[in-house]
Amino acid sequence: PSLDLGLRLMEMVRRVPLFRQADTRGLAELGQMLRARLAYPGERIVARGATGRSMYFIASGAVEVHLDDRSVLLGPGEFFGELALLTRQPRNADVVASGYCHLLELEARDFRRLMRRHPGLRQQIERIASERRNGAPAP
Ligand code: CMP
Repeated sequence: PSLDLGLRLMEMVRRVPLFRQADTRGLAELGQMLRARLAYPGERIVARGATGRSMYFIASGAVEVHLDDRSVLLGPGEFFGELALLTRQPRNADVVASGYCHLLELEARDFRRLMRRHPGLRQQIERIASERRNGAPAP
């Protein structure tokens, strides 16, 4: 797989369908809040039981969510780590990179700000989060 360390932040933002509803101002705001991060194959990005301080959007690559009874694969455009931020509970699963993975990291404080300012985005994230909490398959 090609490993492009230089994939630009805004190009990564454009790869996440959830952000396509954002207007120019919203995109600029997102660009300031999100931090590009490259995860390496096998890296444990989120540890079950840990306190959640960020959530992540996948710009490229895939991660595996290790649930009690099964694993779920999440790919480009999907996100993870939102549950701990929404519920203020510890991380409910390990999340491991299945290959090189370009991620956009959003810290808890910015997450709350984004949720306040963008009700449309908030609704979509909350809908998927509640499906996950009820044990529904991804996404
Ligand atoms: P969090 O609990 O912060 O950390 C582990 C993450 O795994 C969790 O947030 C969700 O983003 C993700 N996750 C948990 N359950 C599921 C599921 N059923 N399907 C997809 N992702 C999940």
